[in-house]
Amino acid sequence: MTTSSTLDFDVEALRADFPILAERVHGKPLAYLDNANTSQKPRQVIETIDHYYRAMNSNVHRGNHFLSQQATNALEAARRTVQAFINAREDREIIFVRGTTEAINLVASSFGENLRKGDEIVISAMEHHSNIVPWQMLCARKGAELRVIPINDAGELMMDEYEHLLSDRTKIVAITHISNTLGTVNPIKRIIELAHERGAVVLVDGAQAVPHEAVDVQALDADFYVFSGHKVFAPTGIGVLYGKASLLEAMPPYHGGGAMISSVSFEKTTYNDIPFKFEAGTPHVEGIIGLGAALEYLRGIDLDAVAEYEQELLHYGTEALLGIDGLRIIGTAAHKTSVISFMLSSANGDVHPHDVGTILDNEGIAIRTGHHCTQPLMKRFGVPATCRASFAFYNTKEEIDALVRGLRKVQKIFA
Ligand SMILES: Cc1ncc(COP(=O)(O)O)c(C=O)c1O
Repeated sequence: MTTSSTLDFDVEALRADFPILAERVHGKPLAYLDNANTSQKPRQVIETIDHYYRAMNSNVHRGNHFLSQQATNALEAARRTVQAFINAREDREIIFVRGTTEAINLVASSFGENLRKGDEIVISAMEHHSNIVPWQMLCARKGAELRVIPINDAGELMMDEYEHLLSDRTKIVAITHISNTLGTVNPIKRIIELAHERGAVVLVDGAQAVPHEAVDVQALDADFYVFSGHKVFAPTGIGVLYGKASLLEAMPPYHGGGAMISSVSFEKTTYNDIPFKFEAGTPHVEGIIGLGAALEYLRGIDLDAVAEYEQELLHYGTEALLGIDGLRIIGTAAHKTSVISFMLSSANGDVHPHDVGTILDNEGIAIRTGHHCTQPLMKRFGVPATCRASFAFYNTKEEIDALVRGLRKVQKIFA
C-alpha cells in the first residue's frame, strides 16, 4: 500500500511494470496524464513482442512449418483471451482490425449495405469523429439520415430525447460507452434495450471503456462492440471488432485478398468463415499477441480495485483543480470515468489550451489539448479546445499535485 491511496492498492508495484514512467522529461519526472489518448505499455507486453521477433516470427495461417504454427497458435490464443476478456460467446466473434476507427468503418461499410433511403442512424452529440464520419459517409451513399441525441450542460445524454428519436426507421444506433472528452459514462445497457425494442442494431464504441471497467458484451447484449489496443496498454495498430456471429455471418466482406477466401477462380470467389472473412491479408501478428499479453496483464490485477482507485483519482483531481480560481471543468456528469476536461483563465482571460499544454510539458507533465476529435462537442460547449487530464491506474495523487502546481505557474505567466 502506498501513501498515495487510501485503498489497498499497490500503485508503486504496478508502476514498476511500466518502464516509461521512470523517464524524465525536460529534466523533470514524467507525469503522464494523457491516457485517454494512448496508454503506456507494461514490460510484459514489451517482452512478449520482443520474444515474438526473437523466437517466433513467421506468417500465420499459411505455413505448416514449426514457427508458423507457433505464431498461429499464439495469435489464436490471443483471440481467445480477447473473447474471455469481454465475455463473447465464441472466439469467431472476435475480428482483429487496426483499431476502433477501422472497426466502425468496417461495420458502416459492410452492415451498412442493408440500409435504404429514408432509414435512420442514431448517434450522440459526444461522439468521437470516428463514430460520426463513417455514418455520414454511409448516409450519403444510401440516402439515409443521421439523428443526434443531444446532451445536457453536465455532458449527459438526454435519454428522453433519445427515446423520441428512435422509430421504426432507426436501423443503427452507434454510441460511445464513455466519452473521451467529458469522461461521461453512458447508460449503455438501457440504450441497447431501447434500440432493440425498435429492432435497431447497436454498435458500442468501447475505446474509452475497456481500459477502465470490466465489459461483458453478452450482459450488455451489444450487437457490435469495438475498441483499440493502444488504449488498453497494448501496441498501436491493433484493435477489436466484436460482433454477434449471426450478424457477422450475414455481412459481406469488407476487404478482399488473401486469408478471407475459401476458393478463388476468375469466374467466382467464395469466402472464408468468420472471423477470417473480415481479416484479409497478413495480420498485425505481434500487435495481436501483444494485445493478448496486455489483457492477460489486466486479468492479473483486481479490476474492481482499479476502478475504485481511478474513481479516487478522479475525485481528488476534480477537487484539486476546482481549488484553482479561474478553472472551469467541462463535463460534470454524475457518472464519470477518470477524465477531466477543463479551461483555465488568468487575470487576462482564458489561456489557450495549447499554451497551457506547452508550459505543462516544460514541467514534465503530459496532458492533451485540442478538440479531442470531438468538434461538434466543442461547439456545444462554446469552446475551440480544452485541456484534458486523463488518469490510468498507474497515476498518483502526487502527479495530480504536480499538475496543479503547473497550472498555477501558467496563471502566473499569463497574469
Ligand atoms: C471514444 C473514442 N472513439 C474512437 C477513438 C478512435 O480510436 P483509434 O484512433 O484508436 O481508432 C478514440 C480515440 O481517441 C476514442 O477516444
